[in-house]
Amino acid sequence: MSSRIRRIAISTGGGDAPGLNAVIRAVVIAASDRDWECYGIREGYNGILFPERYPEGGVFRLTRDRVRGIGHLGGTILGTTNKGNPLAFPMRMADGTVKEVDRTGEILDTFARKELDALVCIGGDGSLTIAHALHKKGLRVVGVPKTIDNDLDKTYTTFGFDTAVSFATECLDRLHSTAESHQRVIVVEMMGRYAGWIALHSGIAGSAHAILIPEIPFDLDKVAAKIRARDQVGRMYSLVVVAEGANPATGHRSVLEEASAGQVERLGGIGEWVAKGLQDLTGKDARTVVLGHLLRGGSPTSFDRLAALRFGAAAVRALAEGQSGVMVALALPNVNYVPLDEVAGRMKAVPPDCDTLQTGRDLGICFGD
Ligand code: F6P
Repeated sequence: MSSRIRRIAISTGGGDAPGLNAVIRAVVIAASDRDWECYGIREGYNGILFPERYPEGGVFRLTRDRVRGIGHLGGTILGTTNKGNPLAFPMRMADGTVKEVDRTGEILDTFARKELDALVCIGGDGSLTIAHALHKKGLRVVGVPKTIDNDLDKTYTTFGFDTAVSFATECLDRLHSTAESHQRVIVVEMMGRYAGWIALHSGIAGSAHAILIPEIPFDLDKVAAKIRARDQVGRMYSLVVVAEGANPATGHRSVLEEASAGQVERLGGIGEWVAKGLQDLTGKDARTVVLGHLLRGGSPTSFDRLAALRFGAAAVRALAEGQSGVMVALALPNVNYVPLDEVAGRMKAVPPDCDTLQTGRDLGICFGD
């Protein structure tokens, strides 16, 4: 690795989030202005670990032309994956067993062979943990915080979150009228993994009557009581938002698929469980809507687009200033840089005393506690 930067690579890892393409565009333009060449790594690090899968190159040149007109598009032109962490990559051994193997050496070798001087890693907790490990092994790395879940520490927000919350809020707006017309309970399950940010923010913005998040184990009887209280004053319908990671105080979170080698557990199903329970407890007709991957799609909102462009440009500035092992963060009103070791492996949950939660309580929203 030479000290002067001439070539940088960009990787997008984990679940996609609206704004990824805007970051890529900003990095490529800001780097090109410094006469640096940019390269994209396909699907996390698969472009390096499995080059044979990509006839057009697992690591390919990103020119200004290639990123023209992509800033408003969802998804990522690089592709992404949330399988196969290179720090613990599942490999089938000769005896048929599966062992997790550290394959980061192959990434470092490729960077050396292709004379790539730095990596801009755009990702959530998993990807930034990998980025941190690569940095510790000598690679020049800057991270960019991405996730619709908003569960990354040390940044006011991640890009992708605002788009997910805006869409979820619009869905709740639409569900009010149908729930009211049929005097039903509608339970809306939302992504967010082990944090309740999407459910909390959209639930309050979209006037939900109950919001269940992982940070507050819930008692279904309390939610049923809220629904009955609404019925008694003539509000014959209720909207209940449930984060996918929420769990009853006396039970477990709902898992669709257990974790396996190279794959984290998949959450889901709590919405249906809550709807069934509330139907039994209240005697009301209940329905479930699972927003799922719709929350990850579509164009980034202007907030996310601007955050993504600022993050991308700031990542290039960080490299130009000689920084490494840092993540670009939003410290309103500015961006700043925080060491990756303060971010990797840490999760930002909704604090029990945050004012947004307090606002929900002041508005009479039931949190199931
Ligand atoms: O981390 C983003 C996220 O969308 C989570 O909210 C969700 O639990 C998970 O990814 C879903 O992952 P997959 O795309 O593998 O179903």
